[in-house]
Amino acid sequence: MTSLKSTGGRPLKGRFVVPGDKSISHRSLILGGLAVGETTIEGLLEGEDVLATADAMRMLGSEISRDENGIWHARGAGIGGLAEPEDVIDCGNSGTGARLLMGLTAGHPIRAVFTGDASLRRRPMLRVTDPLTLMGAEFHARQGGRLPITVTGATRATAIRYVLPVASAQVKSAIMLAGLNAAGETTVVEPHPTRDHTETMFQHFGVEVRVVDTPDGREITMVGQPEISGRPIVVPGDPSSAAFPAVAALITEGSEIELPGIGINPLRFGLFETLVEMGADIAIHNRRTEAGEPIADLTVRASELQGIEVPGARAPSMIDEYPILAVAAARARGVTVMHGVGELRVKESDRLGAMARGLAACGVRVEETEDTLTVHGGNRIEGGATIEADLDHRIAMAFLVLGLAAEQAVEIDDASPIDTSFPGFADAMRSLGGTFEAGDVS
Ligand code: S3P
Repeated sequence: MTSLKSTGGRPLKGRFVVPGDKSISHRSLILGGLAVGETTIEGLLEGEDVLATADAMRMLGSEISRDENGIWHARGAGIGGLAEPEDVIDCGNSGTGARLLMGLTAGHPIRAVFTGDASLRRRPMLRVTDPLTLMGAEFHARQGGRLPITVTGATRATAIRYVLPVASAQVKSAIMLAGLNAAGETTVVEPHPTRDHTETMFQHFGVEVRVVDTPDGREITMVGQPEISGRPIVVPGDPSSAAFPAVAALITEGSEIELPGIGINPLRFGLFETLVEMGADIAIHNRRTEAGEPIADLTVRASELQGIEVPGARAPSMIDEYPILAVAAARARGVTVMHGVGELRVKESDRLGAMARGLAACGVRVEETEDTLTVHGGNRIEGGATIEADLDHRIAMAFLVLGLAAEQAVEIDDASPIDTSFPGFADAMRSLGGTFEAGDVS
């Protein structure tokens, strides 16, 4: 394990190019690796999660390569043309990779075995295997529907109409990917809208997708068995990664940083909306669109933050950002209450428990219930603790950011999970002036 610690005291200054969006990167490899002809992908996130998806698509018969300019090239055999993998597909730490690829294979008449690391093997999969079973696929899983799972894809996938019982873009996307090879119209209804990158990318590749708002929620209908051909894709900077330097700048006195080319899709932008409500100085300029996704350049300056109530309805638009919001809340004046965040317990780690334990260890008063987190800010942050990352990249990065505003260094026992979503995080933070050094834990 490689430990890492951060120390405060220096302002952050400069320009920071955030790596590509993880959600969009997975989807571009999956759709590009399925479509006939060449898809070029610029700005692909080269993190471990996404590289695992690239390997998986190769095992399913796609041609995927990276050229010397960092552009990725993908070619596929078309919908219905997946090959049966010869070996187990290992999705590493990635719930998105595992759930989306299980959806894709569920719609094809092949058998595939999926596994992942210790974190992914404890995460719930029934949320995808239940609807995919309705579409004609069969699954053999460990107790509780956990990985490793053997998928026997449908010989002829059935189009379904499915109301999402959990607000999950991964579940929606798994159904839509299976629906690609089902005759007729597959419909997903989401009572609480979740990130819409799959819908946008399907449309970019020429799949017919209709979205309507109904009294039951957002209804997404797609027409199965289209002919899809390769497309150019430009991946925006990941707002979920931008969140870490952004909060670091907000809570470190005298800071001002530029974050160019960040995705500002409203279904991903809940954290920034919340931070602005808390009094953050975040300027959004040069708004534009790439491959159907809205992007902009952000300027973030150190700010006095005020605690707030974050409504549960906002959770899907900032589901990955609560660990770093809790860090901002620790520095804000007053109390911040995050409602309706029970889903955080089944992410890469139990993030509610991890934040509550870690903040308390750093001298911050916190309370957790099954689905709320309350952070009492306004006091000095002692720091001086070592936090277990528990194979969770966002827990690791959140506490390293906290260390920049604490009185004593904050250490992470294992920084290696950061590479799943944000390779080069520590170096990039150093380039802004942050103090990050190898820790003492061995
Ligand atoms: C993702 C959806 C979210 C998010 C994950 C990426 C995606 O998961 O937590 O990091 O790319 O669809 P859920 O949809 O399960 O909440």
